Amino acid sequence: MEHRLLGKDGPQVPVLGLGAWPLAGGMGSVDEKTAISTVHAAIDNGITLVDTAQSYNNSEALLGKALKSGYRNRCFLATKVSRDYSPQGIRAAIENSLSQLQVDYVDLYQIHGWNPAYPIAESMRTMAQLQAEGKARYLGVSNFNAQQMAEALQTARFQSTQPLYNLVDRGIEAEDIPFCEHAGIGILAYSPLAKGMLTGKHSLETEFPADDERSRISLSQGERKARYLQAAKALDTVARDKGISLVQLAIAWTLRLPAITCTLVGAKHPDQVLEHVGATQVKFTPDELARIDEIGKGIQA
Ligand SMILES: NC(=O)c1ccc[n+]([C@@H]2O[C@H](COP(=O)([O-])OP(=O)(O)OC[C@H]3O[C@@H](n4cnc5c(N)ncnc54)[C@H](OP(=O)(O)O)[C@@H]3O)[C@@H](O)[C@H]2O)c1
Repeated sequence: MEHRLLGKDGPQVPVLGLGAWPLAGGMGSVDEKTAISTVHAAIDNGITLVDTAQSYNNSEALLGKALKSGYRNRCFLATKVSRDYSPQGIRAAIENSLSQLQVDYVDLYQIHGWNPAYPIAESMRTMAQLQAEGKARYLGVSNFNAQQMAEALQTARFQSTQPLYNLVDRGIEAEDIPFCEHAGIGILAYSPLAKGMLTGKHSLETEFPADDERSRISLSQGERKARYLQAAKALDTVARDKGISLVQLAIAWTLRLPAITCTLVGAKHPDQVLEHVGATQVKFTPDELARIDEIGKGIQA
């Protein structure tokens, strides 16, 4: 597994991370045994960065069980404070996360999103204190734009950001990626498969069960869903010509940029993880990248 530096002075992390939102029922129920086997399959195959959050249902508790028997020491464990970014909220959240995860520290502690209700300087100061106390080795943010990252950096150094990035959602390319390159901030790209919409297995007729977030969120409804499906159909021909799966094309494409430190991919089964690992071997020629860009024109969200 290829590794890249997380930020200009951070640790080496694998280019693939396991996103632990679907394992805790975020996209429909997954039985605990399968969920734990999926975590083990990821780590055993080099996907040693595992990402979760306070708000991911019982994902942290599930990881607490999965990371026994030496798995915790083999992985770079990332979680997030999700709702209340006040100093008290952040402190309560990390204590709860450490207890659910059954660990003394996490490797990366991230602020899940920007919320103007909480002054960023206060939140970052608290995050830096947690780092000084040894509860988090590194700090990160998520869903921050360039201006918000610049503001956060005025109070405390952080190692990474976590934005949405895939073949259709390319909004970070204009300003956020250049900012991260300049400031030495690592990027953990999320939802490279657009929550399954870029796998080729869904159609306009697909209906998701009520316990699957895709029955509600905008990404999998109406025009937005149609755009992903249109992209998936066109890109599948590129993948076939290259002898790889569309899933592998979608993941590998995000990693074509050195600025993307790691792509976080969600999985619900060990077999899905094994397909993801194959994506790390894929390199694109300039012609293939041009073909993908051409398909993307007019489809971008
Ligand atoms: N910071 C944030 O705000 C934020 C937001 C979203 C995600 N994230 C992080 O990023 C991670 C990844 O994003 P995501 O889980 O939302 O979406 P994703 O990785 O784009 O898609 C994951 C889903 O795609 C399907 N899939 C995965 N591998 C497949 C394969 N090999 N073949 C066919 N289908 C496959 C699975 O669902 P089905 O099999 O049911 O189709 C799986 O649940 C999350 O788990 C989370 O850690 C962070």
